[in-house]
Parts: sequence; C-alpha cells; structure tokens
Amino acid sequence: MQDPYDWLAPALKTIHRAHWYRQPQCSTCQGAIAMVQGRELINFASNNYLGLANHPEVIQAGQNALEIWGTGATGSRLLTGHRQIHQELEQALATFKGTEAALVFSSGYLANLGAIAAVVDQRDLILGDRYNHSSLKNGAKLSGAKTIDYPHLDIAALEQLLHHHRHQYRRCLIVTDSLFSMDGDLAPIPKLLKVAQDFQAMVLVDEAHATGVFGPRGSGWIEQVNCSGQPLIQVGTLSKALGSLGGYVAGSQMLIEFIRHRAATWVYSTALSPADTAAALAALNVIQNNNQPRENLWQRIDQLHHGLKKLDRLHNPSLTPGIPSPIVCLTAPDAQTALAWSRTLGDLGLWVSGIRPPTVPHSRLRISLMANHTKAHIEALLAGLEQLLPSGGTGCLE
Ligand SMILES: Cc1ncc(COP(=O)(O)O)c(C=O)c1O
Repeated sequence: MQDPYDWLAPALKTIHRAHWYRQPQCSTCQGAIAMVQGRELINFASNNYLGLANHPEVIQAGQNALEIWGTGATGSRLLTGHRQIHQELEQALATFKGTEAALVFSSGYLANLGAIAAVVDQRDLILGDRYNHSSLKNGAKLSGAKTIDYPHLDIAALEQLLHHHRHQYRRCLIVTDSLFSMDGDLAPIPKLLKVAQDFQAMVLVDEAHATGVFGPRGSGWIEQVNCSGQPLIQVGTLSKALGSLGGYVAGSQMLIEFIRHRAATWVYSTALSPADTAAALAALNVIQNNNQPRENLWQRIDQLHHGLKKLDRLHNPSLTPGIPSPIVCLTAPDAQTALAWSRTLGDLGLWVSGIRPPTVPHSRLRISLMANHTKAHIEALLAGLEQLLPSGGTGCLE
C-alpha cells in the first residue's frame, strides 16, 4: 500500500533545490548585540524598534502580572479569560490610536484574520496591495470575498479596479500595510482614503511596523499623515516596537462591538496572557511618556540613510534609499546570493537576515534598526555593506 506521506521527501527536496530551506537560528536576546549560534553579532534583524522588549519597566510589568494572575489566561475573553488588564490595554490603545475603541487579540496575525473575515464575506470585494503581509492575504481568503491585488502602492491602478468591479459587490474593503515590512516603503494613506471615499469602500490599514516609530506621538504612519480620526479600521501588533506579544484592532465603537461578536479568532481563542498584556501596556506608557527611544531610533535611521547615500556616490549608482524608515532592503539577484550576503555580513559580526520566496517575491537582505543601536553599530553596518557591494555590485537598496 502506498504511504500517504510519501510526497513529503520530494517536496522537501524541491525546497532545498530552490535554496528556500529554512531553519530557526537560536539567539540570546533582542538587544542591539545578540549571541547567535554562539557568535556575538550586532543585531540588524529584529523588530524591537524601540528596544522595549528589554526595557526594565516593561519587563517589571510582565513580572508583576505573572505574580498577580499567573501564566495563561486559560479561557477565551467571553468565557473565563477576561482580566481588568485587557480592558486597560484596550482603553490605552484606543487613546494612543485616536479611536473610540480597540480590541486585543492573541497575535497580530489573528487580529488581521479575524477583522477581515468579520467585516466582509462572499458578497463583497477586497482590494489589497500586492505586497501585503501574509496575514492580510490569508484574512482575505478566509473571508470568502472576491479578492484582487493591485500593484504595489499604485493608487491609480486601485482606482481603475474600483471602476471596473466595485458596482458588482455589496461591501468593499481596501487593505494595506502602512510600513511594508519587507520593503521599508509606505502606503499613501490620504490618497487611498480619498479613492475609498469616492467608491464607498472601507479601509483597513496594518500598522504593525509603523506603530511606535512614526507620528509626533509615535502612534504610527496614520498619525504622521494626519489621518487619525478618519473612518479607518486600524490593525497592528504588540510584538514589534511594543516588545510584547498580541495584536489589536482599533476603530469606531460600533466596529469594535461588531468584531467582538464576529471575529472567530477572538471569540474562539484563549485570551492574551496577562504578562504579555501588562508588558504591552507598560510599553505604551513608555512611548507616551518618553520620546527618547524614538528620537534615538530616528538618529540611527538618519545616519544609515545618509551613509547609504554616500555609499551610493562612492560605489553603486543603483543604491537609492527610499523614504527613511527603520527597514532597509537590499535586493539580491537570487536566493543563493541573499544567503551568501547574509553569511558574509555574519562573518563581519553583523546579523542581517536574508529573506527569500515565498516570504517575498524577490530575494533580499532586510536590515532593521533599533533605538539601542549606537553610532558605531551603524558605521560597522555601512562598512560591511561597502565590502559586500564593491564598485559595480548588483544590489539595489530600496
Ligand atoms: C505587516 C504585519 N502584519 C501582521 C503581522 C503579524 O503580527 P504578529 O507577529 O503579532 O502575529 C506581522 C508580523 O510578523 C507583520 O509584519
């Protein structure tokens, strides 16, 4: 009789052949310096943008919550898992995001799946940026709505698609990342909102990587482009600049009430652990009361972008950094080269991830900055990149 699992070995062989095989690397912590597989490296691979995953007040808040409430919430929010601290975090998130209400999920991925599948179904249309995060794309699939991708950041193409398709569907949802996690570029939210208004479409913006980084108060890209208060569905994660775990949806009171009834990933999943909830709340307090981590981060962003411009003039005319953000990508010709570049930088003491398909359509190095980086760390990175891309190199910084 044939083994029903005998397809696994050839499938894995295909993954190896394409240089797509992955394995987690063990590292010590998410600080600016990390021990990775026994080597001490400067960490340019973390989403701990503000360094809050290692902040004493955030750690203390998590520890206190463990003492008070124990480890797991052990039940869904509507049954036995709801704690006062969840409510406090939701109130704080709503205030931070400038919305009437917010709802906390057990991860950003679950927030996206839950929110999208709650607000649209088979009768509806979703238009999403082609480079949207996996959680947005899978949320669209889960919803059953007709889904069409528009070319990355191309609002004219989005408008064309709305012209052609909008009238055939009941509701329409436009979905986009704000800061694109694998490209480091940013969605033109005001233009997108204008088009959405013209076609009576809802807009869901994923601020996973922009929260804590952009905006006068650090609330995100939506705040930076003066769109707080607009009729948006804001989603995001507590696991990046906030240094914890979990996700959220923020918006009008009615939207949040509806999602509380209809988002399966919230209703039927165990509540976020009290320690993660308390850590995220403490991180929000740090962000709101202390601009220093964000200022440090932006100094490092400016230093890197200035350095890249210089590198551009010195060596490779194709090196053109885009709008400054803590994420910088260096496009590689193929997966093998992305891995080789990552290894070379590793040998120079720099931890920079090689990102390959299917995570992204084109292989690349992804550099991410954090507030704890020093001037010297960025200088070391620039020196490493200069070695990697000598005159006439093929890389392209986006
Ligand atoms: C843009 C974007 N959205 C959502 C998520 C999912 O967030 P989480 O890691 O909290 O599940 C991620 C993260 O990895 C992300 O990059």
